[in-house]
Amino acid sequence: MQTDPQGSASFSAESYFATQPAPASLDNDRQRVRAFVRRQSEQGNKVVLVTSGGTTVPLERNMVRFLDNFSAGTRGATSAEYFLKAGYAVIFMHRQFSLQPFSRHYSHSTNPFLDFLEIEHKPAPNESLSTTPEITVTPEKREDLLSVLTAYKKVHRDGTMLTLSFVTVNDYLWLLRGVSEELSEMGRDAMYYLAAAVSDFFLPRQKMSEHKIQSGKGSLHIEMDQVPKILKPMVDEWTREGFIVSFKLETDPQLLLPKCRQALERYGHQVVIGNDLNRRKFEVVFVSRIAPKKDPAHPAATNIDDDTFTESWLRLSEKDTHTREIEEDIVNELVRRHRTWMNNGR
Ligand code: PMT
Repeated sequence: MQTDPQGSASFSAESYFATQPAPASLDNDRQRVRAFVRRQSEQGNKVVLVTSGGTTVPLERNMVRFLDNFSAGTRGATSAEYFLKAGYAVIFMHRQFSLQPFSRHYSHSTNPFLDFLEIEHKPAPNESLSTTPEITVTPEKREDLLSVLTAYKKVHRDGTMLTLSFVTVNDYLWLLRGVSEELSEMGRDAMYYLAAAVSDFFLPRQKMSEHKIQSGKGSLHIEMDQVPKILKPMVDEWTREGFIVSFKLETDPQLLLPKCRQALERYGHQVVIGNDLNRRKFEVVFVSRIAPKKDPAHPAATNIDDDTFTESWLRLSEKDTHTREIEEDIVNELVRRHRTWMNNGR
């Protein structure tokens, strides 16, 4: 653990895992992932890990209060559906109670399913009204429901989705490491799609108040430590040759591309997808690295100064935003790039 000039601590991933407790469900989750990966591997399926939703930072050990990160889980849940459609098996690692593939279409707040169920009283023989009415689906909702239900049932029948959940940033970090290590068995057949919104600051267990923080002392001052940047060990240690896609969320458009490039430089993974908070549903940018050029005088060496980035924007037209989801285009593009990546390695 290091201390910066202001006195706040920044953990390396190693010191983080050495000092912060693993969640009780970790071993069981790892076993489930191991069995899932083995089964998908035997069936010749590629597997993508999709992380989704925001992490929390508890302020007390007996938690009453916590800080939360923005994310409904739309990006992750929607993308998971398109990956399944593209033939991938999916490990869906999401914030408890955030949106999930398939059921997201009937979210309790935007499209409550009770609203399109109807009670029908059918006349029974020798009776003017049946005593046990039937439940039916409103005719105009049937087509959509049938298509969602068919895809959902298929995934269940085929066993191609494994769902895991987290709440705190600590749960997330331990689980991400565990799942990545298990999934790395698949080498280049695995993709990691990190759409979760991860807290940047946290309170180490050792600094947390045991009981509910009392309000009688006036204003509350909390100094948080920095969450270790886990993409670096993920790329260098936890995953073997996997295809890693991270997201970058910004609110200042001027910062988006520089931050995406910076992430690629720092962590050395395959793709960063940049999105602006207010435009993310219809516009994203893919940033990746062009392979460094060889110096003709030293063919074995790569010239880092020649390193450049490619940027390609995906946009939905005004008309399409009402009928299509940008995640379909994101996933199609990633499937194409992953295929190229796998072929290049073999
Ligand atoms: O769910 P929605 O409402 O649809 O919203 C989707 C989204 C906007 C949350 C999603 O598209 C998105 O941008 N997710 C990433 C948001 C985020 O946490 O960005 P960041 O800049 O804090 O992190 C960038 C990357 O670094 C992330 O891929 C993360 O995996 C990684 N990271 C983050 C923290 C940390 N300690 N270590 C990391 O490696």
